[in-house]
Amino acid sequence: MSDSGELATLRDELISAINEAADEQTLEDLRVSSLGKKGVVSERMKGLGQLDGEARKTAGQALNRLKVEVTEAIAGRQAEFKQAALDARLATEFVDVTLPVRPRNAGTIHPVSQVWEEIVQVFGDLGFSVAEGPHIETDWYNFGALNIPDDHPARQEHDTFYFNPREDGSRMVLRTHTSPVQIRTMQDSEPPIRIIAPGRTFRCDSDQTHTPMFHQVEGLVLDEDTHLGHLKWCLEEFCKSFFEVDEVKMRFRASHFPFTEPSMEVDIGCSWVDGQVKIGVGDDWMEILGSGMVHPNVIRAGGLDPDKVQGFAFGMGIDRIGMLKYGIPDLRAFFEADLRWLRHYGFHPLQVPNLAGGLS
Ligand code: DAH
Repeated sequence: MSDSGELATLRDELISAINEAADEQTLEDLRVSSLGKKGVVSERMKGLGQLDGEARKTAGQALNRLKVEVTEAIAGRQAEFKQAALDARLATEFVDVTLPVRPRNAGTIHPVSQVWEEIVQVFGDLGFSVAEGPHIETDWYNFGALNIPDDHPARQEHDTFYFNPREDGSRMVLRTHTSPVQIRTMQDSEPPIRIIAPGRTFRCDSDQTHTPMFHQVEGLVLDEDTHLGHLKWCLEEFCKSFFEVDEVKMRFRASHFPFTEPSMEVDIGCSWVDGQVKIGVGDDWMEILGSGMVHPNVIRAGGLDPDKVQGFAFGMGIDRIGMLKYGIPDLRAFFEADLRWLRHYGFHPLQVPNLAGGLS
């Protein structure tokens, strides 16, 4: 049977082999060849029976110590392998939680949606609610009720998209403006009325400043004694809030619309610096909307009595004032769904416009 010197050599060999094992399989082979049923340590255990008394006891204790040492060395090496595997995983599956979200992959809010929401916020603050109407209108809502008779030149000017005639010969139209919502609102509600109606409008027209589909916002205020002063104040307040400036130079220019009398177009002061327009200051003028006192015929068409209620209306191009505010040069690009354009001109989805936090 082994003497203590031979056992110490065996121990040193086993422990250094275990510590140098390159992988888990090598380690497992070492475990089998030392502690396994036919392993060197186990074989020596079996040999103990041939010894007697003290010698057996001493040899037994020495072998047991060896067994414990080898077992611990294997467990230690195994733990090292586990730790190394974990380290490797952590190195590859590393997530830097301090990195910002990837803004390049985030969607953006389209300038039309942004400007639409800004307008709703400003007029909402002035006590207006939002009204809506259908895109497909009857000729009467789009024209007749708005004091535009059949032979009126405004019908040609509107470049209307007509649907095929119905059985009775009448033709539906894609609404050419948001003004029909005035009539629908009068029919549906009791004065006092204070609404805006943002929405899509359609005309057969396309160039740098016209697209077949575009957006307008209509305004309508009707009460017993609403007058032009109210209209002016309202639009001034709107312009200051919307363009986020303290003062806006405004000019009310006499004009003509069939549905208002008197009618005015509104220009705002601006200046051009390096091809960019600056709003509110300067000696140039930019037309931004049409407005006027609602024509008695229109009030009547809405089912109300023009001797009892009066008020003002206005209509403004949403895309157009968006182009002005954000310096976007070509209207057609609004509707081309070009991702580069959307990333450049789009707005952050979480920055919802409001008057408290700022519109833009
Ligand atoms: N409906 C007109 C257009 O599309 C815009 C407009 C002008 C609307 C004057 C109004 C208004 O309500 O009073 O050209």
